Amino acid sequence: MKVDILLGLQWGDEGKGKVVDVLTPRYDVVARFQGGPNAGHTLEFEGQKYVLRSIPSGIFQGDKVNIIGNGVVLDPALFKAEAEALEASGHNLKERLHISKKAHLILPTHRILDAAYEAAKGDAKVGTTGKGIGPTYTDKISRNGVRVGDILHDFDKKYAAAKARHEQILKSLNYEYDLTELEKAWFEGIEYLKQFKFVDSEHEINSLLAEGKTVLCEGAQGTMLDIDFGSYPFVTSSNTICAGACTGLGVAPNKIGEVYGIFKAYCTRVGAGPFPTELFDKTGDQICTLGHEFGSVTGRKRRCGWIDLVALKYAIMVDGVTKLIMMKSDVLDSFETIKACVAYKVNGEEIDYFPFDIEGVEPVYVELPGWQTDMTKMQSEDEFPEEFNAYLAFLEEQLGVPVKIVSVGPDRGQTIERYTEE
Ligand code: GDP
Ligand code: IMO
Ligand code: MG
Repeated sequence: MKVDILLGLQWGDEGKGKVVDVLTPRYDVVARFQGGPNAGHTLEFEGQKYVLRSIPSGIFQGDKVNIIGNGVVLDPALFKAEAEALEASGHNLKERLHISKKAHLILPTHRILDAAYEAAKGDAKVGTTGKGIGPTYTDKISRNGVRVGDILHDFDKKYAAAKARHEQILKSLNYEYDLTELEKAWFEGIEYLKQFKFVDSEHEINSLLAEGKTVLCEGAQGTMLDIDFGSYPFVTSSNTICAGACTGLGVAPNKIGEVYGIFKAYCTRVGAGPFPTELFDKTGDQICTLGHEFGSVTGRKRRCGWIDLVALKYAIMVDGVTKLIMMKSDVLDSFETIKACVAYKVNGEEIDYFPFDIEGVEPVYVELPGWQTDMTKMQSEDEFPEEFNAYLAFLEEQLGVPVKIVSVGPDRGQTIERYTEE
């Protein structure tokens, strides 16, 4: 068997959590491959709302095995809070949530360093989620990290060495901090973590595939936040693209099956950095209000704009997307017309490819008629308004990949599969 991968094509928050939950019944295993508690994946069903940060979104459907892969960075304190909340609401995790021994631990001092580096950047700050993501991946790459598997061997020594190194850096930055509360919660998190099954995710996943089991890999963030291909330096610190599933789980490239690329019918971004189609007018405010565009982790207002097909095409290329999923189309239900960016203007010249730097590029739009119909209760594609079908046909023609799922509301049930011929 091969793994299928689901990942965001924009700047995150596309609705990955919702769709992973919807698709989970078709799989035996769901696995996260990168990111950490910077993610906030929202799921809604049976009148309840859940926000997952480090736990895969396959945790609510039956007794499926969920794996936190080696590419993930884990904060034990935040993990404990997340897992305990789920257990309190009746979801038993202990037996079926497996954690890679090779996943790196976010230390309390990583979180402080994240804040200190941001403060030092002044106006150039990235606007991180403040969860210590960058400093933890930095330690991983510079071979200084502490991993989940280290909890079982010589842990105190490894922790103390990393902490001492971080404290030196913080001293050189003249950054004041208090670790007392953070450390207390962190060590409680370490004790809590010990109840879970620590695995070698590469062995586990490849054995499962060999047994004929099906695996869905869940991305976090989005392609435009990828450390290599995103809007650097305003990105996260992991490979959010399809290849991240190979390195973040130990799955070879020839074991990849379908790649589901997920995008909103418009576009959002949270944090700093260029965003060519950003709207600063009433329309932008309308999208923000109708789409409830506030961060699920930080509560920050998300910046809103029109869909950017130049960036989407680029994401589809680097991810090898085979099927598209369009989210939040209901947010545009009341719009008279809808714009889509089909090219950028750079120094007066029109380009249709994603350039090295998107700072200052001007979007070139086409305008399409809106459908002006409430789609939130629709159950099948037969009910789609004509203008909506025209919008989908336009996107498919521009992007060259079929849109297989359309989401018309936050609930699990507000999801429509299209059965159009390929
Ligand atoms: P993720 O990080 O990609 O999982 O996305 P988030 O959960 O951060 O953000 C997506 C938000 O949109 C969440 O609040 C979802 O409940 C909500 N959502 C998902 N799909 C839809 C949809 O089709 N329509 C509307 N209106 N909201 C949706
Ligand atoms: P999900 O999985 C949206 C953004 C931050 C910041 C940049 C770097 O819910 O889609 P970091 O804390 O990772 O060092 O921050 O990346 N960012 C996200 N934006 N959705 C996310 O995750 C994000 N995770 C990080 O706002 O601009
Ligand atoms: Mg999110």
